[in-house]
Amino acid sequence: MSDILVHEQGGVCTLTLNRPDKKNSLTSSMYAELANLFTQAQENPSVRVLVIQGSETVFCAGNDISDFIENPPSTLQSPVFKFLQALVQFPKPLIAAVCGPAVGIGTTLLFHCDLVYAGDNAVFSMPFVNLGISPEAASSILAPQVMGYQRAAQALLFGEPFMAEAAMEAGLVNQIIPPTELKDFVQRQALKLAAKPLKSVLETKILLKGHLIPEMQKRVKEEGEIFSKMLTEPAALEAMKAFKEKRKPDFTGL
Ligand code: COA
Repeated sequence: MSDILVHEQGGVCTLTLNRPDKKNSLTSSMYAELANLFTQAQENPSVRVLVIQGSETVFCAGNDISDFIENPPSTLQSPVFKFLQALVQFPKPLIAAVCGPAVGIGTTLLFHCDLVYAGDNAVFSMPFVNLGISPEAASSILAPQVMGYQRAAQALLFGEPFMAEAAMEAGLVNQIIPPTELKDFVQRQALKLAAKPLKSVLETKILLKGHLIPEMQKRVKEEGEIFSKMLTEPAALEAMKAFKEKRKPDFTGL
């Protein structure tokens, strides 16, 4: 079965991350597929709303760490950057349904969603520093904008997980729903939005965030250059080796 399931009904296209054995972590081929699916959803006139979700127990464990070692994103043509470019300028409403862990890109992609609904089991984290790397997906500008500087600095420097309640208080989450009810709730919200006049919805999104797109595109590129370089340096190599060996990394002297 595919690692990303696609379902379309009533103007709502739903992408479900479906790699449960690896906690829905994203490989380069999944990024490439997501980039294509976002482009198709943008171009397909029958799609009026896009939903991204995981399962009831996990949203996304971030980049696949083994894939990072084997296929590090080395240029801005890499699948991850293609996905980020598609995400940044996606013009239709994008809704996320988040249950369980949302790590790294699992959290940073949410800054690009127009609506984020979370199960009360959702746990968010941006552990880039703990992996010897740096923020991506324009989170270095969007996290302070959405959460406020101090909360963003705490989340990005310590990389510690925070729960759904804290995420809602910080402005990242719209509403908390019991995990077993989340998917149905999000479908109802998406269908409600899909029934509204499309042009009004699209113009509203442009007015809300269209002016930020060039800045986000520039930041994705700047972050990507730093991120790709740091990925090959000793701290990241130690962190990824430690993850594979199921031990704490040792950053002494790094
Ligand atoms: N990349 C690759 N494999 C991953 C992964 C990732 N990002 N996240 C989880 N996995 C794999 C584990 O290695 C494990 O594989 P195994 O069964 O072959 O040993 C499997 O998924 C289950 O993970 P596990 O850690 O046992 O599940 P958990 O429920 O205890 O914890 C997480 C879930 C998401 C909290 C934890 O897996 C985690 O912290 N993952 C790493 C997240 C991360 O640092 N991502 C990169 C961000 S940039």
